[in-house]
Amino acid sequence: MDAELLLAHVLGMSRGSLLTLDDVPEPDAKRFGQLVDQRADRVPLQHLTGRAPFRFLELAVGPGVFVPRPETELLTGWVLERLTGLDGPIVVDLGSGSGAIALSIAHEHPGARVTAVEHDPGAIAWTRHNAMARAAAGDTPVGVVAGDMTDPGLLPELDGRVAVVVSNPPYVPDDAVVPREVADHDPPLALWGGPDGLDVVRGMLTVAARLLHPGGWLGIEHADQQGTALPAVVRAHGGFTDVADHPDLAGRPRFTTARRAPR
Ligand SMILES: C[S@@+](CC[C@H](N)C(=O)[O-])C[C@H]1O[C@@H](n2cnc3c(N)ncnc32)[C@H](O)[C@@H]1O
Repeated sequence: MDAELLLAHVLGMSRGSLLTLDDVPEPDAKRFGQLVDQRADRVPLQHLTGRAPFRFLELAVGPGVFVPRPETELLTGWVLERLTGLDGPIVVDLGSGSGAIALSIAHEHPGARVTAVEHDPGAIAWTRHNAMARAAAGDTPVGVVAGDMTDPGLLPELDGRVAVVVSNPPYVPDDAVVPREVADHDPPLALWGGPDGLDVVRGMLTVAARLLHPGGWLGIEHADQQGTALPAVVRAHGGFTDVADHPDLAGRPRFTTARRAPR
């Protein structure tokens, strides 16, 4: 499938229309061969095409930014369900990377006031690039803020006003072994989360609790092995009710949700 997608990329056509192809011009065949070699050397497909599909969007990606994963589409869908019927809800995406979650929310819930927070200077260039492209395409503009999701003073102007705080934070335990595509090409700040993978989450909960209005929702993605540990960390914080965990389409624990307790 990757070879087909690379050939379609080189020829500027859809994967399906490759079926109608009789011949590949020599320069394209050469370029295709180079890309196949790079993919065989474990360069992510999305870095070779420069694009990553996510829900209804196609985002620009490349070195310096985390490639959005299909699992995260589910967490994004959960956020959109929480927003149903709300007029101009305020949403904060902590650790926005390519902007996949934030920009999808702005695209699918027009009028949502979305802020994307990103700490990595390399990654935020991609957040800004994609946010500008989506605004130019007519979506409600998303605010992009350089900031640390564990900074207790983050976004003071949104204190107690936010309907949903969502995050796909770095959650890989420091001693985990990850595929070469990930280890060599996803930025370290996007991956590593301390000994149990939950250091950044622990730091972020106080910020989320301050930003959310009572009854506002929190959604955090996690690794397969954190389906018990992450809900326990959220419960231990004390500022949230209705803590629940949700599986992905493969049935593996994938994200934890909770509501801001009354103050
Ligand atoms: C797993 S990636 C997720 C990116 C994007 N939200 C997605 O789902 O594809 C985590 C992101 O959080 C950012 N990040 C890590 N630590 C952060 C922090 N303390 N504050 C803000 N962003 C942070 C990383 O740079 C990275 O872009």
